[in-house]
Amino acid sequence: MKIVPPTDETIALAAQALQDSLLVGMPTETVYGIAANVFDPEAVEATFAAKGRPAENPLIVHVGSIDQARTVTADFSARAQMLAERFWPGPLTLVLPKSDRVPSIVTAGLDTVAVRMPNHPVALKLIRAAGPVSAPSANKFMGLSPTTAQMIDPQIEQRLEMILDGGACEVGIESTVLDLSGESPRILRPGAISKADLESVLGVEVGTGSDGERKSPGMYPKHYAPRSPVQIVEDLKPGQAGLILSSPNGPNQVVMPSVASEYARQLYQALFDMDRMRIGTIFIQSPPRSAEWDSVWDRLTKIVGS
Ligand code: TXA
Ligand code: MG
Repeated sequence: MKIVPPTDETIALAAQALQDSLLVGMPTETVYGIAANVFDPEAVEATFAAKGRPAENPLIVHVGSIDQARTVTADFSARAQMLAERFWPGPLTLVLPKSDRVPSIVTAGLDTVAVRMPNHPVALKLIRAAGPVSAPSANKFMGLSPTTAQMIDPQIEQRLEMILDGGACEVGIESTVLDLSGESPRILRPGAISKADLESVLGVEVGTGSDGERKSPGMYPKHYAPRSPVQIVEDLKPGQAGLILSSPNGPNQVVMPSVASEYARQLYQALFDMDRMRIGTIFIQSPPRSAEWDSVWDRLTKIVGS
């Protein structure tokens, strides 16, 4: 069994594995990641291979301190500093000019690098011992991101030296990705740190979505998909299986929390469980449209692929 409880000993073994160019399953507060030594192009290459991920989709560098973030960026700007002081460790990824030390395979040849400090004690211990790691979500390309060690696909597990079991992820969906490389900040992927959170620290308006030129290569329209077909509906009919916000009116209906952050925390696990039951189409009751549901809607839209 590759899944191990995180102790000083297993974390030291994992740090050693990273030094030896091997891959490690790492818990974070958002989702589980596949960690590799970011300065080791062969290990990074093995990450792409394990996921079946196209080389044009760059990885996020995970650091254990702001000092480490400075070593992978060419210009850790005043805005980056303010946001890092307020939201790190936490679910916020900053896109900044890249340092030459970061191999180009990590950033898919871009001159920017995405960097974040995860808020999970196991990840922080590991990274502080081993140095910065690249870590995409630990799923096959286009698949559901795992929010527990047990959700990691056996095909991925096979490629990992070990998986540190840090329990269920607190946040449950991937970090907010904020592009700070241009004149005005822009959210490339919504997450738990909201546009309003960012604006309150930066004191300037934060854009959203791709502006055509600056875009996140990883923003494929279909993403995060379970194997079963998924449909978003106003309400579930009796007999329809899926995720419901009101009271269930049939079997195989999972009641989801009505608070957006709680919903996000449970979303991937709920879909994973439904998917395993092989009950055909998964119906999802449409959540509210208010701003706090933005990141949930972003994932639901990508799950459905519309
Ligand atoms: O919460 C998370 O961010 C998780 C955990 C493991 O930390 N990681 C994660 O990584 O979601 P991944 O590889 O699944 O998604 C990385 C996203 C992709 O959409 C990618 O295109 C974008 O970050 N990205 C990475 N580098 C970028 C860059 N230089 N410019 C723009 N977007 C970038
Ligand atoms: Mg991913």
